[in-house]
Amino acid sequence: MHPDDCRELADLARFPTTSKADLRDNYPFGMFAVPRDQVRRVHASSGTTGRPTVVGYTERDLDIWATVMARSIRAAGGRPGDTVHNAYGYGLFTGGLGAHYGAEKLGCTVVPVSGGMTARQVQLITDFRPRVIMVTPSYMLTVIDEFESQGIDPRSSSLEIGVFGAEPWTEQLRQELEQRLDIQAVDIYGLSEVIGPGVAQECGETKDGLHIWEDHFYPEVIDPITGEVLPEGEPGELVFTSLTKEAMPVVRYRTRDLTRLLPGTARPGMRRMEKITGRTDDMIILRGVNLFPTQIEEIVLRTPDLSPHFALELTTRGRADHLVVRIEARPDCPLERRPAAATEVVTTIKDTVGTSVEVLVVDPETLPRSVGKLQRLVDNRNRA
Ligand code: DLL
Repeated sequence: MHPDDCRELADLARFPTTSKADLRDNYPFGMFAVPRDQVRRVHASSGTTGRPTVVGYTERDLDIWATVMARSIRAAGGRPGDTVHNAYGYGLFTGGLGAHYGAEKLGCTVVPVSGGMTARQVQLITDFRPRVIMVTPSYMLTVIDEFESQGIDPRSSSLEIGVFGAEPWTEQLRQELEQRLDIQAVDIYGLSEVIGPGVAQECGETKDGLHIWEDHFYPEVIDPITGEVLPEGEPGELVFTSLTKEAMPVVRYRTRDLTRLLPGTARPGMRRMEKITGRTDDMIILRGVNLFPTQIEEIVLRTPDLSPHFALELTTRGRADHLVVRIEARPDCPLERRPAAATEVVTTIKDTVGTSVEVLVVDPETLPRSVGKLQRLVDNRNRA
């Protein structure tokens, strides 16, 4: 391929894709496209294995990032003058600083708390009275639990809008968060390789998937196996080409995130992506059946006696893979109702996904809590 082969965006379909492995192979700065003295900042994502992937920004990149983040917070319902409690992690992770500069650019007052020290999060929300909170949905649950354990009704807080992202979460979790906190919960998407948070944002008016800021990020959805570009509406793997990035532009970056493209609604000029169902690498293959943690989240949250806190462990039983789902009971669920709740989850997974799992309903507050991105799955399979 030659750059001249790209005359219009549709021509990109013939170009090769870029993957995380390309970034790793060129660690740390080999993918940068400007002289080093023009790079104002780097971020890195730790990844689960091996070297981190490093990304870079010029001054203009940082300005565009703040602009798309400001636009995202505005689309979520935030307004200049709002106080924004930012509990995304600060540091090499793009969440904290990405949200921070976007909120400032919009004209908000930022409270840069970062993740962790949960009791203090509750105190700051109570004292500073923010209207907007930006945090991973799993850590939001941890903070809500902390409100309750301090005897404060989370619904009485000043919060009106939650901008939740950085990990997959379901409509059922949206209902849980909205109900327990009395807020509007919207989804924000992004990835460091493309810019960070602020690639796509769900609008507060419609809450129907995320509008992609297509003036900066060109999306395609491909078949993850054949690589073929799929028509709008078909589910597959999301791929992004950066249109304005200077320090580290990417051509057809394979996100491994699964979704489909839909026409715009609240922002008609931009297409939407459906809420992410999962990542190709989070997919559990159990006796030939594909299963995503989000499917389990949906089922758990539809079972009234069960809390949203659950953990997955893959083990080997005989020669087959075996999945154990540990779920915390709600604090008000009597002991004698736990077996029925477990059976309900087993049956629903069997009926809807088509595979058998083991479900253990455990005591409240016994599973690990998230302070940022939650790692739901532990793989303890024997590797022969
Ligand atoms: O997680 C950027 C971000 C920060 C987005 C704060 C939203 C809020 P990375 O650490 O590079 O960047 O991880 C990117 O996280 O490929 C998805 O798998 C996942 N992800 C991000 N947002 C969502 C979301 C940030 N709304 C990876 N729904 C992506 C589902 C998400 N998954």
